Amino acid sequence: MTVVAWLEQVVAMGTDRESIESARRLFPATEKLSYFNTAAVSLGSTILRDAYTNFVAEWTENGLNTTRAEQAGENARRSFAKIIGARAENIALIPSVSAAAGLIASQFGIAERGENVVIGEREYSSNHFPWRMLERKGYDIRQTPFRNGGLEPDDIAQRTDGGTILIAYSAVQSASGHRSDILGIADIAKQAGAMTFVDGSQMAGALPVAPYLDSIDVFATSDHKFLLNAVRGVGYCYIRKSLQRRLVPTNAGWKAGAVPLESFFGPEMRLSQTASRFDNSLNWLAAIGDEAALSLFDRFGIDTVFNRNAELVNLLRDRLAEIGQQPISLPPVNQSTIVAIPLDDTDPTTLLKHLKARDVVCRARDGNLRLAVHFYNNADDIDRLVGALKSC
Ligand SMILES: Cc1ncc(COP(=O)(O)O)c(C=O)c1O
Repeated sequence: MTVVAWLEQVVAMGTDRESIESARRLFPATEKLSYFNTAAVSLGSTILRDAYTNFVAEWTENGLNTTRAEQAGENARRSFAKIIGARAENIALIPSVSAAAGLIASQFGIAERGENVVIGEREYSSNHFPWRMLERKGYDIRQTPFRNGGLEPDDIAQRTDGGTILIAYSAVQSASGHRSDILGIADIAKQAGAMTFVDGSQMAGALPVAPYLDSIDVFATSDHKFLLNAVRGVGYCYIRKSLQRRLVPTNAGWKAGAVPLESFFGPEMRLSQTASRFDNSLNWLAAIGDEAALSLFDRFGIDTVFNRNAELVNLLRDRLAEIGQQPISLPPVNQSTIVAIPLDDTDPTTLLKHLKARDVVCRARDGNLRLAVHFYNNADDIDRLVGALKSC
C-alpha cells in the first residue's frame, strides 16, 4: 500500500477518537511533556509500569515464575506478529537488530569471486557493522549513498548484480524519516537472486508493515521505540518461511528447542520446527514488559493506531509549513511518522535546550531536528512545539 492509498483509507475510515484519546491517559508523561522522541525511546505506560511492578512483587514474594515469563514471551511474539501481519510461527525472539543481522551474516561462507552485499552508506550501525564484517570473508560491501536522507531503488540497482547475495536497508531511516520503497527494492533483489534484510525499528508499531511483508525476507526490530517498551530487551525477527530451512540457527541454545523448558541438556538436539529455533534466551522481565506494551495495540486497534499516526504526522507537517519550517522534502511515498528539519547553521544544543525549557522533547540526529509522532501525541503537543519553534 502506498502512503497515498494509506491516507485515503484514513480519510475513509475516520479515527476512533474517543478510544485513541483515552490511550493518551495511559502515558502520564503526556500531561506535562510534548514528546516527539519516540524514534529514540517510547514513553512509558501505566500498563507497562503495573506489569513490571506486579511481576517484581511476585518474584520478591514467591520466587521468579519462569513459566509465566516464558508465556509472556509467547504472548508478545503473537502480538508482534499481528502488528506486522505475520504468523507467530515465522517470528524469532532476538535481543537486538544487530543480533538478527549477525545471525544472517553468519550464514555466508567465504565469498566466491564477485560476491557482494549492498547496504546504505549512512545506515544505523546495527544494520551496517554486521555486514562490514563480511569484508573479512571476501565480500565486496557496496555502500549506497543517501538521497533525501534515504535509499532510492535506482541507486541500489546500480550497485546490484548477479553477485549480490544480500541487500540490507532500513524500512524508515532513523535520522531523516525517509521511508524506503520496499516493493521497488524487492524487485531489484529478486532479479539479482539476493536476500533482503529490513531493519524495521522505525516502522514496526508506527506504520503498517503487512502490505509489504511478502516482499521482505527478514524484518528485524527491537522493542523500545514505536513498540512501546523503552527499557528494551526483546527484539523480533520475521523470517520468510521458505528461507527458514536454508538458515542455520547459529545462536541456538535451550530456547531454540522444540520444547524449550525440556531442552536444557543433551545428548539430543531437538530444535523447534518454527522460527523459534532462531530464538535467543529471553530477558524475562522484558518479556513481561513487551507482553503488556504490545497488548495496547490490540486494545485500541492496530489500524486505529496507524490511522491516528497518519493524522498526526499530516497535522505536524501542515503546522510546520505554516510557520515556514521546511522538513526534508519527501514525496508522500517516502514519508513516515518521523519528520526531520535540517538544522543547517542552528546549534542543536541551544535549540534542544530552548525546546526542553518549554516541555518539548525531541532530538537532533545527523544534522536534523528529528520529530516523531505516535498515537499518544495530540494537536496540543503540536501547538506547543510550533509555539516553541516560533519563539526561537
Ligand atoms: C534504524 C535503527 N535500527 C536499529 C536500532 C537499534 O538497534 P539495536 O537493536 O541493534 O540496538 C535503532 C535505534 O535504537 C535504529 O534507529
